[in-house]
Amino acid sequence: MLARNGDVSTLRWPSKFNEVPKDVFNREDVYRLELERIFYGPEWHMLAHRSEIAKAGDFKTATIGQAPVLIVHGDDGEIRVFANSCTHRATQLKTCARGNGKEIECPYHRWLFNNQGDLIGAPGMREFKQGFRREDYALRKLRTAEFCGIVFATFSDDAPAFDDYLGETRPFIAKAVGGDGRLKLLGYQKVSFASNWKAYADNEGYHGPLLHTAFQMLKWSTSNGAQFMTSHAHKVNHIELGQLPDFGPLQDSSVIEGRDPKLVPVNLIISLFPLSLVIHNLDVINLRYAFPVSPHETEVHYAYFAHEDDDEALVRHRIRQGSNLQGPSGFISLEDGAVFNRIHTGSHTAGNAEFQKGVTGPGPIATPFNLGKGDEAGNLIRWEHYRQAMGFERG
Ligand code: FES
Ligand SMILES: [Fe+2]
Repeated sequence: MLARNGDVSTLRWPSKFNEVPKDVFNREDVYRLELERIFYGPEWHMLAHRSEIAKAGDFKTATIGQAPVLIVHGDDGEIRVFANSCTHRATQLKTCARGNGKEIECPYHRWLFNNQGDLIGAPGMREFKQGFRREDYALRKLRTAEFCGIVFATFSDDAPAFDDYLGETRPFIAKAVGGDGRLKLLGYQKVSFASNWKAYADNEGYHGPLLHTAFQMLKWSTSNGAQFMTSHAHKVNHIELGQLPDFGPLQDSSVIEGRDPKLVPVNLIISLFPLSLVIHNLDVINLRYAFPVSPHETEVHYAYFAHEDDDEALVRHRIRQGSNLQGPSGFISLEDGAVFNRIHTGSHTAGNAEFQKGVTGPGPIATPFNLGKGDEAGNLIRWEHYRQAMGFERG
């Protein structure tokens, strides 16, 4: 077990490859190091889809780790991600979820920025420190990249090239967003889980048909499917779904029908390290933006989309299916929230959590790695990536 007090750099990871110390789910010092080494370190974070900020001047607020960021569609057509913090005295610039404007004004001393991040003016500028230059006080811009209209950013210059980061997940992400990413925003659901972010990220195929009754009626267990891990510790689950003849407990089966003519019903989940999820579940197209609030709380924003080519009936079907299947009260998400909280409570006991299903040997698992759809072993690759990022030694 990890020591509860003392220097986090002296922490030792269990020598057995299938064990994870429970302490990392609740220690404050571990959490502070995660912010530095993972959330503000060399990883990319999914923040928006282009359709959420479709017009010039549109902006959206989001969070990386605990840092507020602003995704802005500039008048020049470029989408930029900025630290949502005034370059004067750090005041948060925007607090609303979304909006539109030519300018971004800080409420404290009224410094004014355009929607490309340049400082246009500041009251009393002639009395500022000698040598003050407006161009030195533009909003802090993050490295930003886009795939299929999905916008990612990182604070770190050391993050890998974006294409390398996504790696083998690219064709699956494209499939999940309708092949080309031409989406229309339908709306959001937001939920706060009373659990550490890693319990949320540790969801796997083993529990699917065991925890979720809904996956039983969608023939999860008997359908074709697979999971694999990528070289950057991302996970892809791809399962073809069917329907039981009597639809289990549902009175009206239309809510779980697959109606998209371009895609057979799938449960396709691309889980990007550390905390981004791209999902196509039956006819639900869903991006999940998540961030830790503390070691004990994780916030998840579910964004739902239709494809631009959908007719009105299919759009209505996607809205109905998304709000019934997923989100805080969705019948394939509800149980997860309850379990995340139980993992968090249970992790305040001594010892290690153990992975078993799909574990084949005592040593590290090679990547890429093909797993059974109902295995949990793939998450150990994710944990190994985490351990190395955090600098925890084994033994
Ligand atoms: S903190 Fe923004 S203008 Fe002073
Ligand atoms: Fe689940």
